[in-house]
Amino acid sequence: MKITYLGHASLSIEAHGQTILVDPYISENKLADKIDIDKLEANYILITHAHGDHILDVEAIAKRTGALIISNFEIVTYFENKGLKGHPMNIGGTWQFDFGKIHMVNAHHSSSFPDGTYGGNPAGFVLETAHHLIYIAGDTALSYDMKLIPKVIGELDLAILPIGDNFTMGVKSAIKASDFLECKKVLGYHYDTFGYIEIDKIKAINKFAKKRKELNLLPIGDSLKL
Ligand code: NI
Ligand code: MN
Repeated sequence: MKITYLGHASLSIEAHGQTILVDPYISENKLADKIDIDKLEANYILITHAHGDHILDVEAIAKRTGALIISNFEIVTYFENKGLKGHPMNIGGTWQFDFGKIHMVNAHHSSSFPDGTYGGNPAGFVLETAHHLIYIAGDTALSYDMKLIPKVIGELDLAILPIGDNFTMGVKSAIKASDFLECKKVLGYHYDTFGYIEIDKIKAINKFAKKRKELNLLPIGDSLKL
């Protein structure tokens, strides 16, 4: 599995010959100006919630690639009304796709579209392939629900957690989340994009290291291989 960081909370995951794009917010992110949305591949687009900084480029990319949108019922319906195709899910559900399973799990946040349309409840995803299990938290606060993931779904290889604070949990809560998730390997996201979420990256990495945990912060466009 190869996970490429596209800035903010946007990821491209290659698994079993399929490319899964997560929360594409690229074309208005100045930090990601070297990423060209017209060149991104996508067989699937996973969307955690309806906020603009998670759905900005969904329509353009799905139209060009024909990617299947995987999200909650409300978000999938919104994009189906624009002529795109989707697979609706909701919290607690699991579905087998050709690349592996998607488990939709709780997130503590909000979810409305930029135009005011109701976006259902925010979510996180656990991606389970034949060889790997990774958690994509989405925008969320720290919560006890995270303890259920290793207990019910299995042992995680990687937790992708927001660390920018203000709109989501920050570094201190993300360290606690990695305890709850029983996963020492973390990829941080949802930081530095705008003023409210700027962080000191070296300090963050050191805080994780003090607790014998590994915080990975990828330059935009770089990848992590599992
Ligand atoms: Ni949000
Ligand atoms: Mn966000």
